[in-house]
Amino acid sequence: MHIWAVGGGKGGTGKSLVANGLGTHLAERGFKVILVDTDFGGPNQHTYCGIRKPSTSLVQFFEDRKPLDEILLKTKIDGLRLIPGNFNSQNTDCLTVTQKQKLFRHIKNLQADHVILDLGAGTQYDTLDTFLLADVQVAVVAPDALATENFYLFLKNLKYRQLNSALSTLGLRDRSRELWKHRTEFGIATTKDLVAYLRALSAEFSDLFDREQQKLKTHVVLNQVREYRQTEVGVAVTSAVNKFFHIPATYAGHIRYDKDLWQHFGQDTPVIHQGVSFNMRQDLEKITESILKAQAMEVG
Ligand SMILES: Nc1ncnc2c1ncn2[C@@H]1O[C@H](COP(=O)(O)OP(=O)(O)O)[C@@H](O)[C@H]1O
Ligand SMILES: [Mg+2]
Repeated sequence: MHIWAVGGGKGGTGKSLVANGLGTHLAERGFKVILVDTDFGGPNQHTYCGIRKPSTSLVQFFEDRKPLDEILLKTKIDGLRLIPGNFNSQNTDCLTVTQKQKLFRHIKNLQADHVILDLGAGTQYDTLDTFLLADVQVAVVAPDALATENFYLFLKNLKYRQLNSALSTLGLRDRSRELWKHRTEFGIATTKDLVAYLRALSAEFSDLFDREQQKLKTHVVLNQVREYRQTEVGVAVTSAVNKFFHIPATYAGHIRYDKDLWQHFGQDTPVIHQGVSFNMRQDLEKITESILKAQAMEVG
């Protein structure tokens, strides 16, 4: 089984659309797919699936200890099922480390070929950790300056999260803070210098940080492309991620803007299945194929 996570920082860039598009295409290709809505702040994957009022949600898993396969809902697409997000809960808007680990443990026992997690916006630990735990990491960006800014912030925070996890595991958090506080004394100017210093200080840290870093390898998707020249943003952003963040990133492709998309929500049919333009379907299919190819997970 492959666990995918779709994230990217800013709200409204199209993470839920991409998660749904990937799920739809994989299911149509014959895979057993489960979409999991982990956007606790604004769950709406059910709406993309054409389910107006989901009868179950992850709340039942976390609060009532219901097994995940009992809260799975069928969609009108063969092979595509949904675990709806946190609907009407006052208690859960973000997961604890234990809850996250429990969720992943249970997800791994589900009967499916692909599980796709639709992440929330922002860069809280909860979201970053979920992204890092996935086998297939998909980061969505849009061509405008706000979206790219938030996208870089998301990736930067993923790197910091990895660094802090390694430091915490080895009990080096305080040491690192001290080094940073008095950095001029130690000839440290940037985070890169700090990491180099810590590497020289502890071989254990060096190994662990390398292992953490190997967990981050992202596929970039550019959404809401209105003009062809905007497609350049996807390529440019991907190369910046490689060059400046040292994160292995592959460009998976772009999705054109569909001005009529909004009209297909709120009905009892899956949005992508019934309503979206041929262009959007084609773009989503290409992206799915490109990621499958890059991950070498094709059938047959
Ligand atoms: N390519 C697109 N063309 C037209 N509308 C889009 C496109 N991508 C997203 N949208 C619209 O933008 C809004 C935000 O998309 P959504 O997938 O919910 O983003 P996120 O999950 O990142 O918050 C939705 O109303 C959606 O219909
Ligand atoms: Mg969303």
